[in-house]
Amino acid sequence: MDKAAIYEQVAKEISAVNDGETSHIARYATACCLLNQAFVQFYWTGFYLVDPLKPNELVVGPYQGTLGCLRIPFGKGVCGAVAASGKAAVVDNVHEFPGHIACDSKTNSEIVVPVFDAQGKLASVLDIDSTEISTFSAVDQIALEAICKTLLL
Ligand code: SME
Repeated sequence: MDKAAIYEQVAKEISAVNDGETSHIARYATACCLLNQAFVQFYWTGFYLVDPLKPNELVVGPYQGTLGCLRIPFGKGVCGAVAASGKAAVVDNVHEFPGHIACDSKTNSEIVVPVFDAQGKLASVLDIDSTEISTFSAVDQIALEAICKTLLL
């Protein structure tokens, strides 16, 4: 199966499992678990949520992988840059990204996609880290943006 077909399959599984579930935490948990299992290079897949008490800070949410840092200020690292801009980032080599936050030295490339609520306000970011360089492309970005649109009710 090619990448796009795998994403199509995972998107269906996420929708089926989340059907009728109203908890956003549960919906995020389903998505990160199934995405993390879909590709061998993904070793950290999870969400950083906008902290309602500190609106310019992300706090870690459901994830799969090694221990992630708990908080990321807007503007810091890849997740913080995406939270500040509201635009997805594909990073071929994290070692060349200024200010990259290395929670685990195994990360070589990553993709971060914003998640918006029904009012169009930033709610979280999806962060996927890969052990390999240049894992992610526009194919991943398009598929993950589509999945992220289905997560919040
Ligand atoms: N990669 C992120 C930090 C979070 S961890 O990798 C889990 C970043 O630079 O934004």
